[in-house]
Amino acid sequence: MTLPALGTLKSEIDTPALCVDLDVMERNVAAMSQACRENEIDWRPHSKCHKSPLIAQKVIDAGAIGMTCAKLGEAEVMAAGGVKDILIANLIVGPKKVARLVELRRKCNLVVCVDHMDQARAYSEAMSAADLSLRVIIEVDIGLGRVGVAPGKPTVEFAKQLSEMPGLTFAGIMGYEGHLLCLDDGEDKRQQIHAALKILTDTSDQIRAAGLPCGIVSCGGTGSFKYSIEAPGITEMQAGGGMFMDAFYRHRCHVAQWDYALTVVATIVSRPAPDRAIIDAGRKTMDGNHHMPLVVGRDGIRVTALSAEHGALELDPSAQDLRIGDRLELIPGYSDMTCVMHNHFFAFRGDKLEVIWPLEGRGRLQ
Ligand SMILES: Cc1ncc(COP(=O)(O)O)c(C=O)c1O
Repeated sequence: MTLPALGTLKSEIDTPALCVDLDVMERNVAAMSQACRENEIDWRPHSKCHKSPLIAQKVIDAGAIGMTCAKLGEAEVMAAGGVKDILIANLIVGPKKVARLVELRRKCNLVVCVDHMDQARAYSEAMSAADLSLRVIIEVDIGLGRVGVAPGKPTVEFAKQLSEMPGLTFAGIMGYEGHLLCLDDGEDKRQQIHAALKILTDTSDQIRAAGLPCGIVSCGGTGSFKYSIEAPGITEMQAGGGMFMDAFYRHRCHVAQWDYALTVVATIVSRPAPDRAIIDAGRKTMDGNHHMPLVVGRDGIRVTALSAEHGALELDPSAQDLRIGDRLELIPGYSDMTCVMHNHFFAFRGDKLEVIWPLEGRGRLQ
């Protein structure tokens, strides 16, 4: 694929294209960073939403302390791109991966999650054999029911064991309130998120009462940011996707404070009926599972169905002027699941292409 020249107008970029509005993204990043600063919480946003060390660097320049990664391969890409402080908020298992973890530890300041002695033992043996020390944090299940140690005593006991293992430095705990993102916005959502995070912070208090340090108490997602950020006792915030925003965050998680920075530009390729148009962007281009994509800047056009490479639009009478070859800009359903289908972000300042960011961590699933 020949990449478009910098300076190309958005109206001239070939489609479908994953586009970023730089002004909006920078505003969102600054707002997220400032909210963390005001609440005296370190911002360590997930890079899973962009998988680009260049974007990571931009976010670090805006105040983030490092990156949270969902995969070992993603963390390797971030470290190779110069990110110095990385939390892998996932469980890394198997001798090949543990060997890579040792190599990664040589390159950056790493923190890795554990929720079982089997993971910890493998890290301890590999790190002490390499004469290294790895920071580990315990993932605590605060109600999501995915992974994690039960809060309270089981976590405290595990922390004591970890703190005595060679090659490991026990550094804290994390929890993810991901089961509460889609609650209706308001007092009930605030209370439920604070109650879940209190499970986490009560556990950190118990760890400290047992004489151990618990420097990292990490949590947070874009859909809970507004409430998680004000929860007492939290030290790190993982929310990342808010820098892009999308229809899922806005309409299912009720996130109102940031604007849409990520769009897909598509072309009308067929007009099979007066009230129907087809675009060159289907579910292999943008997510429609979490929410249907939304059309930007035009009334009376709705995305009604996505097949692999076709998107079906329903047109009101007011929108029937749409012609084959016309272009539309769409907000993806879920940004996270959209970005991983693309090789590049085309980032625009106003209408002009300013920078192209490759998604270097894309496909690095191992
Ligand atoms: C462990 C963890 N933390 C945080 C998040 C939130 O990420 P984001 O803010 O990009 O939605 C997720 C999302 O899946 C997650 O799995």
